[in-house]
Amino acid sequence: DSILVLHGPNLNLLGKREPGVYGVATLDEINQALEKEAQSLGFEIATAQSNHEGALVDLIHDAMGRHAGILINPGAYTHTSVAIRDAIAGVNLPAVEVHLSNIHKREEFRHHSYIAPVAIGQICGFGAESYRLGLQALVHYLRQNM
Ligand code: DQA
Repeated sequence: DSILVLHGPNLNLLGKREPGVYGVATLDEINQALEKEAQSLGFEIATAQSNHEGALVDLIHDAMGRHAGILINPGAYTHTSVAIRDAIAGVNLPAVEVHLSNIHKREEFRHHSYIAPVAIGQICGFGAESYRLGLQALVHYLRQNM
């Protein structure tokens, strides 16, 4: 079975971008670690990153019938995007929301997530490890619900 890993805007800059907040791991390194983790769990992953809201919506639609679930870091769209939320609700695939930083202890505008109500759950604050924990959580959910 396959899981779609989606990275939202500015996450292509990981490693260079505010390393004090987001860590030094690059997106490639994070994807490679997820690849390994998925393999050890008996799953495949496909990874994608976009800086464009509509492109992320399209990628979520394309997951229908191809992937069993979605691991998503929506980046700043977490706090703004009804469209991404509706896409996740619309495809009816289990999704886990992840963030590198703990959005709840940062600026007020990061405290609200439009995505959280349509996700199984949210993992944030553990840096690159948030993704690995999120993948484990999604696999756990899929094993119980497939
Ligand atoms: C982020 C948190 C968001 O608030 C921010 O806009 C990002 C990254 C995180 O992974 O910590 O781009 O999703």
